[in-house]
Amino acid sequence: SETYCWVNASGVDLQDASHYPEFEQAIERVRAHPITAIPTARVHAVHEDITSTPIVSPAEQTLEVGRVVEATIDDVDLAIARAVAAWPTWMQVSVDARSQALEAAAETLETQLFDWAALISLEAGRTLDDAVSEVREAVDFCRYYAQQGRRLFGQPLVLPGPTGETNRLVWQGRGAWVCISPWNFPLAIFIGQVAAALVAGNTVVAKPAEQTPLIAHKAVTLLHECGIPTEVLQLVPGNGAVVGKALVRDSRIAGVAFTGSTETAQGINRALAAKNGPIVPFIAETGGINCMIVDATALPEQVVDDVMVSAFQSAGQRCSALRVLYLQEDVADGIITMLRGALAEWRVGHPWRPESDMGPLIDEEAARQIRHHIEQLLQTETLLAKSPVTNIPHSGYYIEPHVFGISRLDQLKREVFGPVLHVISYKASEFEQVLQDINESGYGLTLGVHSRIDGFAQQVFAKTRVGNTYVNRNMVGAVVGVNPFGGQGLSGTGPKAGGPNYLQRFALERTYTDNV
Ligand code: NAD
Ligand code: ALA
Repeated sequence: SETYCWVNASGVDLQDASHYPEFEQAIERVRAHPITAIPTARVHAVHEDITSTPIVSPAEQTLEVGRVVEATIDDVDLAIARAVAAWPTWMQVSVDARSQALEAAAETLETQLFDWAALISLEAGRTLDDAVSEVREAVDFCRYYAQQGRRLFGQPLVLPGPTGETNRLVWQGRGAWVCISPWNFPLAIFIGQVAAALVAGNTVVAKPAEQTPLIAHKAVTLLHECGIPTEVLQLVPGNGAVVGKALVRDSRIAGVAFTGSTETAQGINRALAAKNGPIVPFIAETGGINCMIVDATALPEQVVDDVMVSAFQSAGQRCSALRVLYLQEDVADGIITMLRGALAEWRVGHPWRPESDMGPLIDEEAARQIRHHIEQLLQTETLLAKSPVTNIPHSGYYIEPHVFGISRLDQLKREVFGPVLHVISYKASEFEQVLQDINESGYGLTLGVHSRIDGFAQQVFAKTRVGNTYVNRNMVGAVVGVNPFGGQGLSGTGPKAGGPNYLQRFALERTYTDNV
């Protein structure tokens, strides 16, 4: 089997309190130098005529973090035209040179870790822990795809043939690639998609989520400074229904990498299918109704620690987050009692304060949807636990974690993207039904298993259709090159981001047969 050496970014040890002042200073620096995100095509335009709108922190509605100039349809058109025109030259650039640009970007991200983490915390409301992990993940994506690009695309594969004939299999980029990303990993997912597309030999038009254009702008500026030509990578900040829609409908694009909700992915899939022109690849990484199955042999303390992280870290705003906890009935009461205790200690607060376990939801609409879901459950289901409301700031979109008992998985019709955990108690005899229900949900992103019985987890793995299964640990925070990440069914088209087979999905194979 093929092996290769891979080392993840080390980041910083946040148990060491001496790092906190560095982070605080970085927050002040970011606040003192607000960014204006702008479509790349307009960076050199005369700024006086340009209308910008404020980007406000989800943690504090009075705090303007920066401003955005949203791309117009003309900007989209120009960005695609430039990316298409730049592609023939870009695909001639060696994979080594493309990789070096990504490695230079990784180096800067690592040395400026706290400044990037501060912007993530201010713009996306992520806690210090989450923001630092995210910068590490961004560093890893850049370095990993640089390494994998060299491994995969460095040399053509020489194939056998009859005497006198040579055969070569060559990889090349596909053309102008569209990358569309979500706000919940505003740096790591944004730069991961872009890095993969670029190193595979594509030019890129990148649309970040409307909530987080500032980090995307900073990332694009960094990549330009590290040697990616401006026409090869173009930012088009703006609304999904306008800018995103125009991008995917354009017949000049060569492929789409999308991360976001299942519903948006389905809409893009329809738009791609409906247009005339070339058939292009679509990579979709979407949401999940992720479950964890706990049997009677599991270690309760470990279960509770892992449930807290999986369900409530990042305010439950991770595609991988735990939504439905299946507890075998013999241990259910004990584990719920312990969960209540853990929730009593859970601190919701300003994301950039070191004592906060959890920050806000991303915006008013996200908070409204979660409040509505909680209100509905309060009418019909049992509230098992919730964290105290003390010290929650009033000026952001904060919602304390809630745990509800429900009776069936199909009560959840879609992903609940926030700090709400649903618990189902099951009998040992219902185990097969549990697996069937999970499969029938149609989602297949992450799955947790807690059991000390040999073979139990393997049985779950074999019988379920889920992208990432985690046994006796938490089920979030996939590490690049270690836990390649991605789902199936309603959770996505399946390539594993941060895995050895991801880049091929962005590239094209060609065969060269020469009868010399
Ligand atoms: P979203 O689907 O609302 O938006 C994602 C992106 O799509 C944004 O950039 C948005 O502007 C754009 N968009 C919206 N409508 C569009 C359209 N009609 N055409 C083209 N683009 C359009 O998702 P979100 O709220 O930003 O992110 C949260 C979702 O992302 C959750 O469902 C979460 O599970 C998912 N997610 C998945 C993964 C994964 O790897 N599987 C990782 C992170 C987040
Ligand atoms: N890759 C991210 C995680 O595993 C979404 O949590």
